Amino acid sequence: MAALSHGLGLDSSFWPVLYLAMPSPLAAGHAPGKIILCGEHAVVYGRPAIAAPVAQARAFAEIYPHSHCLVEAADLDRRVDVASAPDHDPFALIVRLICAELGQPLPRWRIRVHSQIPIASGLGSGAAIATAIARGLLAAFAADLPAARLSALVYEVERLHHGTPSGIDNSVVVYERPIWFVRGQPPLIFQAGAPLHLLIADTGVASPTKAAVAAVRRAWEQAPATYEAHFDAIAALVGQARAAVAQGDAAALGPLLTQNQQLLAAIGVSSPELDHLCAAALAAGAGGAKLSGGGRGGNLIALVTPATRAAVAQALAQAGAARVLATMI
Ligand code: MEV
Repeated sequence: MAALSHGLGLDSSFWPVLYLAMPSPLAAGHAPGKIILCGEHAVVYGRPAIAAPVAQARAFAEIYPHSHCLVEAADLDRRVDVASAPDHDPFALIVRLICAELGQPLPRWRIRVHSQIPIASGLGSGAAIATAIARGLLAAFAADLPAARLSALVYEVERLHHGTPSGIDNSVVVYERPIWFVRGQPPLIFQAGAPLHLLIADTGVASPTKAAVAAVRRAWEQAPATYEAHFDAIAALVGQARAAVAQGDAAALGPLLTQNQQLLAAIGVSSPELDHLCAAALAAGAGGAKLSGGGRGGNLIALVTPATRAAVAQALAQAGAARVLATMI
């Protein structure tokens, strides 16, 4: 609403009028963003990884009656006529997949999408938007799907975004719980033994996951033994991180995150901005810091406590973070 009133140059006294003028949606759906706590990239090569949803950054879809099937995402400057869109359009694909799953023709609905999750930043924007659209459509059709099936459909959209995704993003976004994930296996939902506090800091550098994953694959093809050894080292620390999370042991988890960052740098997916922000977080008292997601830009995570959170957030902002968000596992 704030963005809308700003865009129209209206002050807040006009809001009730605008609310009255807007038709209410037939149905709505939403989904969270995500972080990878540890194990990204190695997870594409069969190693385990841990991911968690980010409830503070979400994607939304609202369904309205319309003359034909249209997806509109003003934030992303996109308007997609589903009937005529090409196969590789992610918005059209999720609508078609849900309709095919339910045996329904394309509905005469306008699907209005908006998202708080920055794109190409490692926070699972693509999976969250597809899941929000799917959930909005399911609600409008008065239908439901098991989480595993919905996750499989969103995976098809992830393939457009990521090329060879492991499936971790669609899984954590659909299940909305911390997961232990191994490619090709059902995600294992687990709980932290005590709340773990994290800051998510954006380098402000857009970095599509597809390009990062493709770069790692090229490097792996050039030096398979070196990369396999890095992936094994990541797998070992992810196993230790699982125990630390289950025990709510932040003191044990922090150094494992920083070790993971060093290995991610070794496989070539860190960046000067990520290195700089991780160093700033650690210097200000974070227990550990690493990039999260595809890397080469995007977001990093820093493990904090309620006592260190404010100082680390301030240090990240001073070091140039475009945005800092607090979350908890
Ligand atoms: C992206 O969130 C995580 C990556 O490991 C890619 C994937 O697993 O599909 C970089």
